[in-house]
Amino acid sequence: MYLLALLALLAPALAVDRTSNPDLVSRLKTAATVLDRLALLSDTDFLFDFEAQSYATYSPGGVVNANAATFPAVVGTGMTVALLHLGPCSILPAHLHPRATNMVVSVQGQVHTWMVQENGARTVETDLTPGKLTIFPQGSVHMMQNVGCDKALLVSSLNSEDAGTHNVANALFGFQAGMLDAVFGYSGFNGSGMRIPAVGTGAGYGSMECLARCGLTPGYKLDEDK
Ligand SMILES: *[C@@H]1O[C@H](CO)[C@@H](O)[C@H](O)[C@H]1NC(C)=O
Repeated sequence: MYLLALLALLAPALAVDRTSNPDLVSRLKTAATVLDRLALLSDTDFLFDFEAQSYATYSPGGVVNANAATFPAVVGTGMTVALLHLGPCSILPAHLHPRATNMVVSVQGQVHTWMVQENGARTVETDLTPGKLTIFPQGSVHMMQNVGCDKALLVSSLNSEDAGTHNVANALFGFQAGMLDAVFGYSGFNGSGMRIPAVGTGAGYGSMECLARCGLTPGYKLDEDK
């Protein structure tokens, strides 16, 4: 129990999916055929429970991946499906997937998206509302925010079982200040004194404009997540 409480405390700091069963994954990867893989999996291995995962939170949100790390049955399929939980105003900060194109369909809530494919490309914005889909091509930097005061739920699919996620700010501000000074054009801004939130569950608290409109402050907890 104590250990579980400790793990729960540590969970938000964990930035990446941990491989649930490395031994099984390695045996699946070296299996010659689908039938060989099937023999390694029980029927329950074919069922993934998104809501049972630690990142399934709306305070402020979380990205729950069914991928090679969390759901070994995907090995060999080249696919990931993620369920995106976004609490009021919650964002997925600017990130890219190094190994997959990402299509996201809204099930619930009002979400706004931003995406830039490469140098010279304009920023593409969409209003992603229930029943609508957007696409973030492989390597594109993208970001989204639940712009509503209710929860948002989206289904995200990626064409790799190991799509990877790379948060832009966390990467950029990992470089040394002297180099960032050059990156920012000697403007005096080099990131010193800045606190970039840890990757955590994949989601963060959103813009002050939205939070004020919804009567919330960063750090809010919804009743169900207390
Ligand atoms: C970073 O910026 C701060 C504030 O402008 C400055 O005091 C510091 O010397 C800078 N550091 C480097 C390595 O450029």
